[in-house]
Amino acid sequence: MGKPIVLTGDRPTGKLHLGHYVGSLKKRVELQDKDYQQYVFIADLQALTDNARNPELIRENLIEVALDYLAVGLDPEKTVIFVQSQIPELSELTMVYMNLVTVSRLYRNPTVKDEIKQRGFGSSLPAGFLLYPVSQAADITAFNANFVPAGADQEPLIEQVREIVRTFNGIYGEVLIEPEIMLPEKSVWNRLPGIDGKAKMSKSLNNAIFLSDEPSVIREKVMRIFTDPTHLKISDPGHTEGNTMFTYLDAFCTDAHFAEFLPEYRNLDELKAHYRRGGLGDVKVKLFLNNILQEELKRFREKRQFHEGRVDEVYTILREGSLNARQVAAKTLASVRSAIGINYDGKLLL
Ligand code: TRP
Repeated sequence: MGKPIVLTGDRPTGKLHLGHYVGSLKKRVELQDKDYQQYVFIADLQALTDNARNPELIRENLIEVALDYLAVGLDPEKTVIFVQSQIPELSELTMVYMNLVTVSRLYRNPTVKDEIKQRGFGSSLPAGFLLYPVSQAADITAFNANFVPAGADQEPLIEQVREIVRTFNGIYGEVLIEPEIMLPEKSVWNRLPGIDGKAKMSKSLNNAIFLSDEPSVIREKVMRIFTDPTHLKISDPGHTEGNTMFTYLDAFCTDAHFAEFLPEYRNLDELKAHYRRGGLGDVKVKLFLNNILQEELKRFREKRQFHEGRVDEVYTILREGSLNARQVAAKTLASVRSAIGINYDGKLLL
């Protein structure tokens, strides 16, 4: 038995933010030092499914996402980093899997449903967008991935992939591996709210703190974080539940941060208790949160700057990763063709 295989990807429609970090990137950086074979890729073809008329966005953000990967510590010596569009085998697998899922099942995927609503497609929903879960099945199965580290919003997608795998294996024989989602340990890492308190941090909702934000921008965003609208005066008792400032502390702060930045409290429970009693102002809590985020993001910024000065090398990393990934995907595609019988026992070209 080889090592378990993990795979994840990100659409290059913008720079990556704290939601990506706690939901998945953090885990990927841990896994590359453990006993796993890891693939991480930039899903540029998937990004085209809702940006077909804006390819410039994807071209620009490919390198930004790659820089974010390197900034958080993904290491091309340990993790294969590649670009989806450079692996044409994925598109052929997608074509095969499309026949194993019904249109009504695609419409029922709750994540896709939300995204369709959020983007306001109406009757101009691109067929490719509805089908992106099928192409995601190709991404995952091509590499025989056992695990996909992602937040809870990816769960319906992984479920759909599992169904496609079972259907394929049922018809053509046991060829494909059924993947499992690897959710973050803390539930708050599953879906980090935006600074406006909205359910999800996202570039399109304009409520994200990006991994590459400058210190002054981070501070300015932290100061704007939605808190408790009933907590008007410092002396007022406040709510910590549904208070985004505390949600972020739940996500990022450790007891060591208190020792370092706010030694009057030992831990988050003590700080929350004071806020609930009254007598603790938002600004003090936000300055603490700002210190924590500044410290975390500083490490990323330094690494990013190093690679920003060597962009040619970053493209080389992506090229070599893609060459490597392509060999693996080609093997899976060969098994798929042969399981279906469309290799014609070698009597045709392939
Ligand atoms: N859907 C993911 C996103 O929104 C990107 C993605 C494409 C992906 N293929 C994948 C994630 C396979 C995990 C596994 O960013």
